[in-house]
Amino acid sequence: METLRVAVLGPGGVGGLLAALLARDGHAVTCLARPATAARLDGHGLRVRSDRYGELTARVRGAERLDGPVDVLLVTTKATQLDEALDRVPAAVLGDAVVVPLLNGVEHLAALRGHYPAARVVAGTIRVFASRPAPGEVRHEGQLCAVQLGPGAEALAAALTAAGVDVAVRPDEAGLLWDKLCFLAPMALLTTRYAADLGAVRREHGDEFTAAIAEVAAVARADGAAGDAAATRAFAWSLPDGMRSSMQRDAEEGSPTELEAIGGAVLRAADRHGIAVPVTRRIVEELRARLR
Ligand SMILES: NC(=O)c1ccc[n+]([C@@H]2O[C@H](COP(=O)([O-])OP(=O)(O)OC[C@H]3O[C@@H](n4cnc5c(N)ncnc54)[C@H](OP(=O)(O)O)[C@@H]3O)[C@@H](O)[C@H]2O)c1
Repeated sequence: METLRVAVLGPGGVGGLLAALLARDGHAVTCLARPATAARLDGHGLRVRSDRYGELTARVRGAERLDGPVDVLLVTTKATQLDEALDRVPAAVLGDAVVVPLLNGVEHLAALRGHYPAARVVAGTIRVFASRPAPGEVRHEGQLCAVQLGPGAEALAAALTAAGVDVAVRPDEAGLLWDKLCFLAPMALLTTRYAADLGAVRREHGDEFTAAIAEVAAVARADGAAGDAAATRAFAWSLPDGMRSSMQRDAEEGSPTELEAIGGAVLRAADRHGIAVPVTRRIVEELRARLR
């Protein structure tokens, strides 16, 4: 297998986990982070505690700025941190590398393509429960670690697969992104709006949850994805009661949330296609009024 030079911009829950798995497999991994985190990673590497992969410490290079060529750039900041973080990756140094963002949402792809016109920006999503309890430390809960990639990142797909990640390559970029958002947007919006876990949302706000799923699915269809509301609802009703969303956790902590990247993006796409999304719009507007 090809040894890759990989840069990871934002080595938190998602980025740190993938950086550690790739570094363990012998790839040359540089984590691009703010000064304290970069120094911490450079000196101590990444420590992962994973229900699936066990405990591992991986040696990575920590840096504040991309200073040499790489084959792949993984972008794994939160949406709210993306603009500032991109200053760490000069377009001239990145050149024609493959760029794979794993952020939730749909609008960051256009932003990255605008920022890095010579690079090959390939859509990606990840399904995982990972967090960053402290800089350089990653907690991965459960067995889920599934990445979907658009075409054009074949070497990364092979490297992640060899490192133990479940990888699927699919040609339909809109489907790849919206399949995730169709569940995630209603789930994140409702759990955050009502400060309630998934079980309570289903019991106490089930009609509203079902309506939001139908609305987001309609927007997804207009944007070129399958947008299967019945399948999304069945999935949403199959998950454990205690499930919460990271938007809800961020809101509870008073941290910036991905409300705009998730809920705002649905409203903007709905407006573009002339689709009415009254339930989603009301919840997003209520949250806009009280969240950062
Ligand atoms: N976590 C999950 O289980 C999960 C699952 C699916 C999708 N996602 C999505 O994946 C994305 C990343 O989420 P996450 O949970 O991994 O976030 P996270 O744990 O908060 O990690 C974000 C990382 O970005 C770094 N960062 C912030 N500002 C930066 C800057 N200016 N320059 C460089 N690095 C910077 C942070 O550095 P510090 O360490 O120094 O704070 C942190 O390491 C989000 O869009 C999220 O919705 C997450």
